[in-house]
Amino acid sequence: MNWQATVLTLFPEMFPGPLGLSLAGRALEKGLWTCRTEDLRQHGLGRHRAVDDTPFGGGAGMVIRPDVVDAAFAASQTPADVPRVYLTPRGRPLTQQDVRRYAAGSGVLLLCGRFEGVDERVLQAHDVEQVSIGDYILSGGETAALVLLDACVRLLPGVMGCEESGVEESFSEGLLEYPHYTRPAEWEGRAVPEILLSGNHAAIAAWRQKQAEEITRERRPDLWSAWLARKERNMAEAVGGAAQTDHFGV
Ligand code: 6GU
Repeated sequence: MNWQATVLTLFPEMFPGPLGLSLAGRALEKGLWTCRTEDLRQHGLGRHRAVDDTPFGGGAGMVIRPDVVDAAFAASQTPADVPRVYLTPRGRPLTQQDVRRYAAGSGVLLLCGRFEGVDERVLQAHDVEQVSIGDYILSGGETAALVLLDACVRLLPGVMGCEESGVEESFSEGLLEYPHYTRPAEWEGRAVPEILLSGNHAAIAAWRQKQAEEITRERRPDLWSAWLARKERNMAEAVGGAAQTDHFGV
């Protein structure tokens, strides 16, 4: 079966939005994934279909009611084994590891908040993961949900051609990519790095690796530290492995 995204939102018109175009859009047309929405407003209370109320304890803004979210969860009829994700700046940071896990399953159920947030109890009751896409504040979870879905859909089988396959080479995994160049070889007085025109594939690979390392060290000290630590662990393992072989090999 295809991969199913279900989105609980006050703005169903925002989906699939930009994911109806380009790579994800073609995958949608091919039936490789589906995008359903469940309108939270449909589960609102009273004549005005109210979905929110003032926060207990006081303070600014409004909070989405747990009973409204619960009714929307039930109406979505999503199987219990599908990850339930609430997009919120209070969540843990979304990583490629999460994306791989979501893409490997049968789909995701995404809850998009507006206002101050969603009543905490309904998140606990439904075992909802709370995820953020970065350290800045969006006006709602919908654009974050689109980001998460984009990241998942490109990993689904049949979505990307083999020329752009989702897997990175192991030694550069965890680093930012090296810079890219194409024709013309000289543009407005700027030349392409000489080595890239040399035809020496080993030298080009070494240059790219060094560039990736330098750019990562400069721009992302957090990724750089993690990469160095992993490299040291791998080297220690290799040495330990050799020592063990020697020990038992005698
Ligand atoms: Cl998931 N939602 C909102 N509203 N703002 C965010 C976010 C999510 N991630 C980063 N900022």
